[in-house]
Amino acid sequence: MNHYPRCDRTTAWAALAGHFEAHGREFDLREAFDRDPSRFEALSFEAPEIFADLSKNLLDKATLTFLLDLALECGLSERRDALLAGDPVNATEGRAVLHTALRAPRGEGPHAHQVHEVLDAMLAFAQEVRDTERSGITDVVNIGIGGSDLGPQMAVPALDAFAHRQLRFHFVSNVDGHDLTPVLRQLHPERTLFIIASKTFTTQETMANAHAARDWFDAQGGVDRARHFVGVTTNLQAAAAFGITRTFGFWDWVGGRYSMWSAIGLPIAIAIGPENFRALLDGAHAMDRHFANTPLPHNLPVLLGLLDVWYRNFHRFSSRSVAPYHQGLKRLPAYLQQLEMESNGKQVDMAGQRLPFATSPVVWGEPGTNGQHAFFQMLHQGTDVIPVEFIAVRRAAHGLSDLHRKLLANCLAQSQALMKGKTAPEAMTDKVPTAAASFDRAVLSQHRTFPGNRPSTTLVLESLTPRSLGALIAMYEHRVWTSGALWGINSFDQWGVELGKALCNDLLPRMDSGDTAGLDASTAGLIRRLQT
Ligand code: F6P
Repeated sequence: MNHYPRCDRTTAWAALAGHFEAHGREFDLREAFDRDPSRFEALSFEAPEIFADLSKNLLDKATLTFLLDLALECGLSERRDALLAGDPVNATEGRAVLHTALRAPRGEGPHAHQVHEVLDAMLAFAQEVRDTERSGITDVVNIGIGGSDLGPQMAVPALDAFAHRQLRFHFVSNVDGHDLTPVLRQLHPERTLFIIASKTFTTQETMANAHAARDWFDAQGGVDRARHFVGVTTNLQAAAAFGITRTFGFWDWVGGRYSMWSAIGLPIAIAIGPENFRALLDGAHAMDRHFANTPLPHNLPVLLGLLDVWYRNFHRFSSRSVAPYHQGLKRLPAYLQQLEMESNGKQVDMAGQRLPFATSPVVWGEPGTNGQHAFFQMLHQGTDVIPVEFIAVRRAAHGLSDLHRKLLANCLAQSQALMKGKTAPEAMTDKVPTAAASFDRAVLSQHRTFPGNRPSTTLVLESLTPRSLGALIAMYEHRVWTSGALWGINSFDQWGVELGKALCNDLLPRMDSGDTAGLDASTAGLIRRLQT
């Protein structure tokens, strides 16, 4: 795949740079809407389970044409086909990247036999646990970190409306004992199922928590460990060595942050049941088909990935805020942080050459409306422009229709305010608060102006269901791949986490011995300070 040029070596890139200077830098959304009454229709897109309004972004049809030219020159379609066919695109780890195979229907796609064998076994086990009268289980504790935690931790609350009402779910990830301790306090060994989730089964945090949980289980008089501890891993041997007899496997072609569709999804399957878990996979598969087959000008993940490149490399926006207007999606920003920043936070291309342009933005956020009362001030009036991604869900799963109307109105008001802004003369006509009556009116109006022209995307789901969540997450996966592919990086390795792990292994014995020989003065001083 190396014969396709890196984005910055294409003629489209140069054309985009020219277009940015001529029209992009000063682009004004309000004028764009005035000029083109069909802007909303022209820049909104349908994909499985998702309607996407891109019209409040700093782009026009010409921008899109140049970006699509870039995709063409970079061989995006051919590279997508190679990804989906199982070519070893994760070259630095010598692996294929086939999370899409995990949600292909039975008999379809690469590795179909093994995928469905594990899926069937995993779902049968989930069903056993859900039969709480017989299983006696009331609490499911997932011990895992990163990709072995964030997917289930995001999806279980998101799908609360579909969840088993007699089961409680806990997620322990941090090696900080303050994570595990309050969870253990709520448990009875005979009613608890521990899921030890680790692709490698060597991750320090997970293994430390797994051992602590096992010790607790024994100390509490727990019997039949084999029934109360299951493993989800590619390293069946290590799980067996830990004493786990029931293990659900997956494979090296499933990246950690792309693994919630595999047996890593076990807590989700226990929470929502086999049928709903299959619906989650179906939704993701529908998005895979959209990604694979829809021409690029209407291909939602591709369009969003192109927009990300436009913002990161031409507008030079360094972050993107995600604002899901659904409390169930409260862990979505954290999930997307790993998906996007661990995938695309890279500084060299596939050939190992240092990149002369920026890659992953910082992804961050909070559910609306909470974010409005925290950091939205900065989004509206701060000095940095930060594109916002609103996620609105048309139908609520509760009957509190008044709350839901208010929630949706807030969501729309925020994107409207970001775009419209407020001029100083407009602010002059605002009623002055009594407490500020003596303050200079003109000066006050400066404080009360909003620059506007701040971009946002609004994604609309009809309702938050297993199927729509599956489609949403798969959309994000493909979008991350799109920008990573254009940047010419490997979105599927994560060497950046290794150095800290190695240094931690060196420091660990020093925390006991106090040996600071050869350390920098700061680390040595802090060891002395922290030694207990
Ligand atoms: O943080 C690095 C990382 O390798 C992630 O990519 C992965 O999701 C996480 O650690 C957990 O790894 P494992 O599933 O092997 O315990």
